Amino acid sequence: MFPPYVSSKTGTVDVDIGDARDKSTASSLNLWRRPTPISWPSANFPTTTPPKHESEAILTDPIITLDNLHLTLTSRAGPVNILRGVSLAVTGGSTAAIVGPSGSGKTSLLMVMAGLERATSGRIVVRGRDLQGLGEDALAVFRGAEMGIVFQAFHLVPTMTALENVALPLELAGAAGAFETARSLLDEVGLAARVDHFPAELSGGEQQRVALARALSRRPRLILADEPTGNLDGKTGKQIVDLLFGLRARMDATLILVTHDERLAAMTDRVIRMADGRIASDEARGQPSATVRAVSQ
Ligand SMILES: Nc1ncnc2c1ncn2[C@@H]1O[C@H](COP(=O)(O)OP(=O)(O)O)[C@@H](O)[C@H]1O
Ligand SMILES: [Mg+2]
Repeated sequence: MFPPYVSSKTGTVDVDIGDARDKSTASSLNLWRRPTPISWPSANFPTTTPPKHESEAILTDPIITLDNLHLTLTSRAGPVNILRGVSLAVTGGSTAAIVGPSGSGKTSLLMVMAGLERATSGRIVVRGRDLQGLGEDALAVFRGAEMGIVFQAFHLVPTMTALENVALPLELAGAAGAFETARSLLDEVGLAARVDHFPAELSGGEQQRVALARALSRRPRLILADEPTGNLDGKTGKQIVDLLFGLRARMDATLILVTHDERLAAMTDRVIRMADGRIASDEARGQPSATVRAVSQ
């Protein structure tokens, strides 16, 4: 395979990912780092004490808590208030859909949850960890261990085969048997016969299956998916959804899903509607596991 190169000087991992400035490809592999470190004023952003024992982290409920999040980015026209006070708690093991018009801040919210975008203010705690308290490297390690991210546009490494794409996060984590695990995951998503194909040799649906296998390769507790069927036709999208929900249930992971598709949203325990950077409504469905709390400020 095309090896990930580890620099002996910095210990950083350098992988040929095609366009290295493609934030989503790199971030889906946890390779992306901001060029300049951002310092956070500790008075405004208290760091949560890390759990003393792993078991405490496992029992942390909810799995993710957002507290009065604001995200303001600067465009040429001036500052844009993208998230305007989002507070939310999602129970571990549940599924939630984030829906809303284009431009309402859904992707931005998911990126902030993943720690790929730093909130301007507010607090994000995932499994007991305050993400703002983590530096970029620690955040990348945490994200790799705890989260699986699926994007609309797949973001596979074009120079790697399906097998290599799925094995990569495992190899970077130093997991034993990376290729065996990757092979069985690809088998599970119905791609046993395509393991040696490069992304360009796969259909959109097949690429998303590879991306799904890669996102779940380290059995993340939290799966974040941004319009995972957005680039697929209805039938192919349905197959991806069935796989995503099936694998999630088997791994007992939490799923937070951004979608335009009301039918897909209706498959989740909870539907959170965004409008103009805020939560406009938040509706939990019958199941007790979806007991939730949300406050839009
Ligand atoms: N880097 C950026 N700089 C300035 N504005 C941005 C940037 N990225 C997104 N936006 C704006 O933020 C708003 C929310 O975007 P996004 O989170 O992608 O919405 P959605 O996923 O709901 O369509 C949009 O108005 C978009 O134009
Ligand atoms: Mg979006």
